[in-house]
Amino acid sequence: MRSVSLLLLVVSPPFVAVNAWKNARNALSTPSDIQDGQTGVLMVLPPRQTDTGTKRIPDVDHPFIAPGPNDQRGPCPAMNTLANHGYISRNGITTFEEIILGSQEAFNLNRDMISGMVAGNMLTRGNPFVNKISIGGVSPIVPPLPGQIDGPETQGIAKHGRVEGDASMTRSDVHIGDNRNFNQTLWNTDLEILAQFGDDGPDGPATVFNLQTLTELVRQNLESDQLLDPEVYPTLKSGPLALKSLKFAVPIRRLNIVFGTTQQATKHIITSFFMNQTFPENWFRAASPVLGSPIPAQIAAALPEWVPGHNDENGVFVADPQAPAPFNISPGCANYWDVLTNAIPGPLANVTGVFKQNVDLLTGILFNGSGCAEPIAPAGPTNT
Ligand code: HEM
Ligand SMILES: *[C@@H]1O[C@H](CO)[C@@H](O)[C@H](O)[C@H]1NC(C)=O
Ligand SMILES: *[C@@H]1O[C@H](CO)[C@@H](O)[C@H](O)[C@H]1NC(C)=O
Ligand SMILES: *[C@@H]1O[C@H](CO)[C@@H](O)[C@H](O)[C@H]1NC(C)=O
Ligand SMILES: *[C@@H]1O[C@H](CO)[C@@H](O)[C@H](O)[C@H]1NC(C)=O
Repeated sequence: MRSVSLLLLVVSPPFVAVNAWKNARNALSTPSDIQDGQTGVLMVLPPRQTDTGTKRIPDVDHPFIAPGPNDQRGPCPAMNTLANHGYISRNGITTFEEIILGSQEAFNLNRDMISGMVAGNMLTRGNPFVNKISIGGVSPIVPPLPGQIDGPETQGIAKHGRVEGDASMTRSDVHIGDNRNFNQTLWNTDLEILAQFGDDGPDGPATVFNLQTLTELVRQNLESDQLLDPEVYPTLKSGPLALKSLKFAVPIRRLNIVFGTTQQATKHIITSFFMNQTFPENWFRAASPVLGSPIPAQIAAALPEWVPGHNDENGVFVADPQAPAPFNISPGCANYWDVLTNAIPGPLANVTGVFKQNVDLLTGILFNGSGCAEPIAPAGPTNT
């Protein structure tokens, strides 16, 4: 979804604005909605930030503080970094609005793009009734969905299967090892590939991640996973592109754009985010809001032999089904079909009250970004 593929969201024309924000905030004072003992919290799409220029990040109010034993951290270096600096809650339990505001402030991400990423993760791994999501695993602060319609626990983004997938750059496959925390062995292999294919830069020869490096990273991750992990399943069921490449090329490219005035994904900068989960020293956010990138499609095109799919019980690779018409008109629409059909739990289609309002907002954001002509109701399996 990052889903892997959610990262690819094509951003639609400007939507909503400050009035909607104010109205919805007023709505918060209306009588509360209690379901299964939980109090619903209405989500409100935050406005685009008005200050969209570059600035030094972190500011004095957001120092690095290492997480404590009860703080949640997980597979996303960006979310971990935001939490380590208090741009989202340091305990790793955050909300729709907090991630959007923190990502706008710290990374200067385009509001609609980050909204789509949060929407997909909140619908698959958060509790969209109480507006809480763990950036790691199960937490006592995030209750199961009312009526336990997706099983007895809300899992958090580290849970394998819907968004979290195999063949990551710095996290092991769930069937091999720890799919949640940084793995130094994997990172060392990534750096070997960088040393072969990278561009020259301020850190020395072959130290800047370029298209060829990213392509080789994808290829080698997929190849070694196919050997090591008989159950390899690169990502959730997916559309017509090699979503695996979307998965990590987009963030790196985004880091590349975001990361500072040099606009280079240097070894030092990327190491700071991936390994130390902190902003590099003297780091400035991008000079204008950051959108998507053509890099994932270029990587996918460079690796035509890798189509989305998984191994069956005999270890034989099976390609995923393609999105049916009319959802096969574009990669973005096919991805939307995939996420709604295979990843977002079906019972979310039938919720009520504040729960329904929140689900409608989140699925509406995904639809707006999809490029599809018609929406789809959530229909994915539960308790997975
Ligand atoms: C702010 C922009 C974001 C950036 C730059 C970013 C970056 C990344 C990167 C680089 C990875 C790959 C790590 C690896 O391969 O070892 C990743 C993985 C992941 N991210 Fe993010 N991310 C962003 C936003 C989010 C958001 C908002 C969520 C959910 C709330 C999220 C959830 C995930 C998950 C679940 C994974 C694991 C996918 C896998 O299996 O590899 N990300 N992210
Ligand atoms: C780290 O990755 C290596 C290489 O795949 C693997 O052998 C090891 O088990 C992983 N460690 C953990 C803790 O997952
Ligand atoms: C990562 O943290 C270690 C330990 O604090 C430090 O020595 C190293 O310079 C850091 N590296 C980067 C790239 O931030
Ligand atoms: C949602 O409700 C409709 C109408 O009651 C029902 O047909 C459908 O099976 C329900 N879907 C889910 C996923 O519970
Ligand atoms: C989707 O886009 C339409 C048209 O721009 C807008 O009116 C609507 O508020 C958007 N919905 C969401 C959930 O963002």
